[in-house]
Amino acid sequence: MLLALKAFSTTGCFSVIRPYAYGCCASGLYEARLAAAHMGGHVAVYSPAYREAELAELLEFAHHIDFNSMPQWLRFREFCLSHPRVQSGELLLGLRVNPCYSTGHTPLYDPCVPGSRLGIPLAELEGVDLTGISGLHFHTLCEQGAQELIDTFRAFEKSFGALLASPRIKYLNMGGGHWITKPDYDRAALISLLREVRECYGVEVFLEPGEAWCVHTGVLRARVLDVFDSLGYRHAILDVSASAHMPDVLEMPYRPDVFAVRPLGEAPGTPAVMLPTESYAQAQTAGDLPFTYRLGAPTCLAGDVIGDFSFAAPLQVDDEVVFDDMTHYTIVKTTHFNGVPHPSVQLLQDNGSLRRLCALDYADFEHRLG
Ligand SMILES: Cc1ncc(COP(=O)(O)O)c(C=O)c1O
Repeated sequence: MLLALKAFSTTGCFSVIRPYAYGCCASGLYEARLAAAHMGGHVAVYSPAYREAELAELLEFAHHIDFNSMPQWLRFREFCLSHPRVQSGELLLGLRVNPCYSTGHTPLYDPCVPGSRLGIPLAELEGVDLTGISGLHFHTLCEQGAQELIDTFRAFEKSFGALLASPRIKYLNMGGGHWITKPDYDRAALISLLREVRECYGVEVFLEPGEAWCVHTGVLRARVLDVFDSLGYRHAILDVSASAHMPDVLEMPYRPDVFAVRPLGEAPGTPAVMLPTESYAQAQTAGDLPFTYRLGAPTCLAGDVIGDFSFAAPLQVDDEVVFDDMTHYTIVKTTHFNGVPHPSVQLLQDNGSLRRLCALDYADFEHRLG
């Protein structure tokens, strides 16, 4: 089980994850370097395309490198096969394939959509010399259960089963998108599939979830900067931006759970990560509670709105609101759009105290822009 760094790369939390992770999956050289420096263990790399210089560095320390197309593999095959770590078997090389089997409903997150550039379809593999290839990789799921993985594996098996059974193939990477830590995920079914694949095909099986490591493990705290009425809506402008701090709210799109911080003693809410000195009141759909606000960002983008939410009490300037489930695909995706400041990243420790992991300031903003 690998941690997909694209979802969560906060190195200050790796000590919590390390006991359960065999290593990391990286999307390229930078994430691979982060994995080696901060997590240790296995480093599996897949990128839709490599630069030669990047690959040269990866050959020195990665354990799996998977290629996305036959031209990339053929271009770099001799370069890779002549490396001593490949010759000694310390580094194995694989291909990402496309089983062309969609289980998702959002094309943006579906690598099996018609015209996809991600993974090699069966037709492109036929008749090709696969000398030097030791692994196969598919990634097709997004926030899905064990049954979708089983169905996907059966589709993969139909197309690529003969190749998987050949003695040259030593590992199968089943990608990410497994919602393993959700209470209703059928973990017994997952275990039984993994055992079956290992026993039938004699391969080592890897999974590389990102989101599942982090579900409900972190909140984004925002402050109300202004409240006003305009064109039939009551707006609350916050000091956070969907575009800059939580882009999945716009891209996915995703509606987070929102809580208002209330003094201890008022009816407590249930965000997954809460400070022991506070209680929270959960906001509801617009109109369900007496005070509805359009929660918006302090940026120029007209659509930089987190959503319409209703609260039990009116929001006031300086009130705090808390967005739940803001760890995965959030911290890694932030930007300095409009020069918005960034909140610090803090770790809530077992004793209830906060440890600051990072704080970005004006110098970070200035430095990134060159
Ligand atoms: C190749 C690959 N592996 C793993 C993941 C992690 O997926 P998730 O965070 O949905 O588990 C992704 C996500 O896009 C991916 O593209």
